[in-house]
Amino acid sequence: MFQKMSTFVGVSLCVLTFAGIYAQETKSGISVSKVCLGCICEAASGCNTTLGCDGDVCGPFRITWAYWADAGKLTLNNEAPTNDGAYARCVNDPFCASRAVENYMNKFGQDCNRDGAVNCDDFVRIHRHGGNACSNPLDTKYENVYKVCMQTFG
Ligand SMILES: *[C@@H]1O[C@H](CO)[C@@H](O)[C@H](O)[C@H]1NC(C)=O
Repeated sequence: MFQKMSTFVGVSLCVLTFAGIYAQETKSGISVSKVCLGCICEAASGCNTTLGCDGDVCGPFRITWAYWADAGKLTLNNEAPTNDGAYARCVNDPFCASRAVENYMNKFGQDCNRDGAVNCDDFVRIHRHGGNACSNPLDTKYENVYKVCMQTFG
């Protein structure tokens, strides 16, 4: 248990560090905090940055091609989005994937849970279900990891 928690905290701090570097560079309308990005990443994969692709999802945020496309087809190192593998190279990279998540929230951000605010509790649902299905509740495991992370770092 202790070891598990240390791993969780260690991995999470790593996430928060990369998310923090990214957060300083963003200039978009809806801002997704570094803690929010880190906790979505935790819920999606334990924020495992070496997972790679599995089926139709890739990277620590488990992003699909369609999500990446909706988020503006960001790429690493200014490569063309039409290049073979451009999608996977972006979303397997924590920085590029974080930018995609923020773009996606700028496109679909809304008050999914109707609590009067547009915040991370909405973003995590949008991330999981997409912008048009975000009134759906999260599955228990996803929600628990997200909540513990937010309580720990939020
Ligand atoms: C991350 O995923 C890889 C590939 O599935 C696995 O081998 C590795 O143990 C995972 N790392 C952590 C910290 O869970």
